[in-house]
Amino acid sequence: MICLGIESTAHTFGAGIVDSEKRVLANIKDSFTTEKGGIVPAKAADHHVEVCDKVINEALETAKLSIKDIDLISFSQAPGIGHCLRIGAFAARSLAMFHNIPIIGVNHCIAHLSIGEMLTGATDPVLLYASGANTQIIAYEGKKYRVFGESLDMGVGNFLDSFARYIGLGFPGGPKIYELALKGKKFIELPYSVKGMDVSFGGLLTNLKQKFDSGKYRVEDLCYSLQETVFAMLVEVSERAMAHCGKNELLLGGGVACNKRLQEMAKEMCKERSAKCFIPENEFLVDNGAMIAWQGILEYSAGKRMSIEESVILPYQRVDEVVVNWKD
Ligand code: ATP
Ligand code: FE2
Repeated sequence: MICLGIESTAHTFGAGIVDSEKRVLANIKDSFTTEKGGIVPAKAADHHVEVCDKVINEALETAKLSIKDIDLISFSQAPGIGHCLRIGAFAARSLAMFHNIPIIGVNHCIAHLSIGEMLTGATDPVLLYASGANTQIIAYEGKKYRVFGESLDMGVGNFLDSFARYIGLGFPGGPKIYELALKGKKFIELPYSVKGMDVSFGGLLTNLKQKFDSGKYRVEDLCYSLQETVFAMLVEVSERAMAHCGKNELLLGGGVACNKRLQEMAKEMCKERSAKCFIPENEFLVDNGAMIAWQGILEYSAGKRMSIEESVILPYQRVDEVVVNWKD
């Protein structure tokens, strides 16, 4: 079975083609970027409208397939920005109806976890999902995916990007902060905000801006210290979720998980508790269509079906609302 997966929850419009033998035949994406300010939903949606044909055709060309070879179309049904989700759903529905191909909508967060398992061989991991809008610790427990910890305010990527923008680094800020942090030497104490299993970044962001404005600190040291602090927070709650669930695998997902320092800290924690740390390639950490395609194959193969009427977007769906039919 060959599935075309369409991703459009936020900045990225992606089209991936995956088969049931776990081969990724194509994984094409085009992302909306801004120099100033955050994501404007209507503008991101306009971007997706503009690129959707191009991205889907490029995926088919890369896979050397025609739409007639596609057995299933899947799309990100939830969660995300309504304006953006609607474009992916519309593209998926149009192709499905026109070419008479079955359609299935999937949960984006669970897709991050499933592609990680498929690529790395992890079998029952705790997922640290660290992206722009999302920061969640997710694991499968009691027949459902559940959130064991999350950010109480902004996602860790949005936090990094906000600070980067404030100090004039532009967008996306994550990679630029990483480069500066490599030149940091002095650790500056920053607010460490873990509340139970949850984290928050708002207070830390204000504190960092004040420190930057004071002119008393090297920006390299601020970047270094902020990475050490926020990644320690993320790794701490991940470790606690692993201990609570009795799981000995950690899987990383989301764009922020591309950060080599976060990867190092996650590996170190896993080593200390004799657990395994799984990290997919960057192209599968960031939002991508291949993960949506693979999730479609999993659910369809296990018998899930969706009518066009049921293929409405669900911007606020949480992972524990998903009926899981593809796992024991
Ligand atoms: P989602 O809808 O899943 O929240 P998103 O649109 O925010 O996704 P992602 O591609 O998962 O997109 O993540 C983007 C974030 O990842 C940005 O905040 C960016 O700064 C950060 N990022 C990307 N690459 C790196 C890197 N190498 N190091 C650190 N952060 C990175
Ligand atoms: Fe994502």
